[in-house]
Amino acid sequence: MPNACILGTGGHVPSEVVTNDDLVARFGIDTTDKWIRSRTGVQERRFAPEGVGPAALCLPAVEAALVRADCEASDLDLIVFCTLSPEHAFPGSGVYLQALLGLPDRGHHVPAIDIRNQCAGFLYGLSHAVAMVQAGMAQRVLLVGSEVHSAALDLSTRGRTVASLFGDGAGAVVVGPCEAGQGVRRIVLGADGRHADALRQDVWDMRRRPFVAVDAEGRGVIPPEALWAQMDGPFVFRHAVERMAEVLRALCAAEGVAVGDIDLFLFHQANKRINQAVQRMLDIDDARVVHNIERYGNTTAATIPLLMAEAERDGVLRRGMTVAAVAFGSGFTWGGALITW
Ligand code: UT7
Repeated sequence: MPNACILGTGGHVPSEVVTNDDLVARFGIDTTDKWIRSRTGVQERRFAPEGVGPAALCLPAVEAALVRADCEASDLDLIVFCTLSPEHAFPGSGVYLQALLGLPDRGHHVPAIDIRNQCAGFLYGLSHAVAMVQAGMAQRVLLVGSEVHSAALDLSTRGRTVASLFGDGAGAVVVGPCEAGQGVRRIVLGADGRHADALRQDVWDMRRRPFVAVDAEGRGVIPPEALWAQMDGPFVFRHAVERMAEVLRALCAAEGVAVGDIDLFLFHQANKRINQAVQRMLDIDDARVVHNIERYGNTTAATIPLLMAEAERDGVLRRGMTVAAVAFGSGFTWGGALITW
């Protein structure tokens, strides 16, 4: 059985920068740069222009990943698209990306699946990509994390807790076969559905009749608490720290690796204080951790592939390194991957 590795990476963020001060000045949110920096680590984030969804946003990242993997879109056997902010409730973003890549126009009806695991989405997606390669069902899998959060943020004081955290961005990798002993060594995934409501956006609900309330004229009526994401921040924070530390320990135990042997940590970027708490618990020094939360905020499924692409570009992530990627988010879902880069 072949093993699977990441052959190429790419990242992309939209050009519009929104600083913490912009949240106050442009949107009138009652917050301060000091509060957001000190409580979360976020200094600024990017917003995509209207008309751009996650499939279009990720195109430059996909192109970069294909170049670095030395392959063409027509070489792809599978697209795995991870997002919590798809263009529509259905179909998923993967098919929009497939069409934007021009694949069906050229007779390549590459299958496309969507992964709905929020901040852990990329690692859940990586497990699918790796399994398909190991099973011999795919040679080149395009794995994308892409998010357009800005369209669904309550940019008012009412929504400040969530709105100050999230930003738009995209990352992509190409996964393919490699020698045994290289590439993705192990992936550990977990979920706790008892806490599914702790971070959710329930703009539609198929348990209701109809799924969105309608007024006398048949127009949909969506109350603000359903329109915008709801989060029990301190509850999510506490679980994130516990689960991220736990999954790292599980990865190390399963692979017989000490935390001290890991060269680089790619932590999901939900709140810098979460990652600092995990670092303290496992004695991980700052020199082995990369961040992008200061510049991009929480980009959910895009965070880890963006970190990979930027760390590779900056020479911080190099072939042969032992790398751990860890994420936690809504669901709750979490995961970790130990990779020989
Ligand atoms: O990506 C998926 C996973 N998501 C996470 O991991 C997020 C985890 N949670 C967190 O990062 C933190 O809980 C938050 C950053 C969301 C909130 O920080 P906190 O230190 O837990 O604050 P809090 O929710 O306990 O709120 C403390 C106060 C509240 O005011 P009162 O009720 O004490 O008067 C909030 O209204 O801070 C207020 N607050 C703000 N103040 C200024 C919340 N957001 C803001 C804001 N600016 N942006």
